[in-house]
Amino acid sequence: MIGELLVVDDVAGEFSDAVINYFGSDPQPMVLTLSGGATARRCYEDLASRTDPEFWSRLDVAWGDERCVPLDDEDSNYALAANAFGALLDDARSVHPMRCAEGADRYGRILHDLGGPGLVHLGLGPDGHTASLFPGSNALTATADVVLNNDPLGQHQHQRMTMTFPAISKASFVIVTVEGESKREALRRVINGDRTAPAARLDGPRLLWLVDHAALGDAQPR
Ligand code: 6PG
Repeated sequence: MIGELLVVDDVAGEFSDAVINYFGSDPQPMVLTLSGGATARRCYEDLASRTDPEFWSRLDVAWGDERCVPLDDEDSNYALAANAFGALLDDARSVHPMRCAEGADRYGRILHDLGGPGLVHLGLGPDGHTASLFPGSNALTATADVVLNNDPLGQHQHQRMTMTFPAISKASFVIVTVEGESKREALRRVINGDRTAPAARLDGPRLLWLVDHAALGDAQPR
């Protein structure tokens, strides 16, 4: 496993602490790149309860992946964040939803113009995926920063837009949040460096795994 692994009781609370400490240490505008899924929802609801408009006014908000559905669709990662953050998202310095119809290259340019993806939040799927980088998919070896992708095994609905590993490696800080027993096997594979679990390929200058006891089980962090 690459990075630091912390076993915590409250993943969402520790996520908020890490984000607030990171952005609180620098008065400059910064990029926060968001994720999707149930764990992300809990993290964003917690972060919303602990931040104010002034905090958000320094943030440029981007996404690491998105489902190719309308932004108000209940499956959209933008909609998930909009629901969790509410009016705080309107206070952000800028907000950049991924729109599949506009193409992946355009989103790659947006990230480039923002100076990179900044703090990237990611999750872990039971199959070992992170962002929308699914096992066996073309995106795993893509060199562009952002691509369209789908799950070749058909376990995940919708075409996706996703940041790639080269793009994620440009993050200043990556936080991966992992909750629940359903992630135990995938997390074990990541800890063992099993690259058939895509999340085992994550890399970057600073990579923090926040995992709960149920997800870790009796695996030993290396
Ligand atoms: C998405 C994601 C995805 C997610 C993991 C974990 O759009 O679904 O970005 O990578 O973070 O699948 O999701 P859960 O927390 O729901 O298990």
